[in-house]
Amino acid sequence: MTRRKFLAYLGRFAVLFALVGQAFAMLRSIVPNVVYEPPKKFKIGFPDDFSEGITFLSKYRLFVIREGNTFWTISAVCTHLGCTVNLVTFPKPKKVKVGKREFTEQWEFHCPCHGSKFYGEGTPFAGPAPRPLPYYPLDLAPDGQLVVDTSREVKSDFRFVLNV
Ligand code: FES
Repeated sequence: MTRRKFLAYLGRFAVLFALVGQAFAMLRSIVPNVVYEPPKKFKIGFPDDFSEGITFLSKYRLFVIREGNTFWTISAVCTHLGCTVNLVTFPKPKKVKVGKREFTEQWEFHCPCHGSKFYGEGTPFAGPAPRPLPYYPLDLAPDGQLVVDTSREVKSDFRFVLNV
């Protein structure tokens, strides 16, 4: 093989390589880089897994509250910048007044990041948090487990009553 022929082959190969590379990059751009988020609706366990009072599910950053056969959930994600709030329980129930409502609470939620504080029903009373902690709907799956749907919020008076 002459030097001229070798360089001609090399040139063709370089052009072909560049074209294939461009075609691959173009085709790859059609397939998006998907970030798969965890599902918004998920099972959190059987009702009997939850004891009376409040339970923190760190995996889901969620509080589940049980009063007999009544259940509800409050998000543990601070409405300021998304830190996980801490549960602060009281040795004795405390009376609080939020607007015109008066209620007794056994716990509050305190955010460790910038000092926001929330009453036991989720209303902020200190710090920069702009909104109450959200409530999510609860339901029962066919297998008997509680299901939370974090894709939508419900009002703070939402309660799931288990029919036994
Ligand atoms: S993230 Fe909770 S106060 Fe800022």
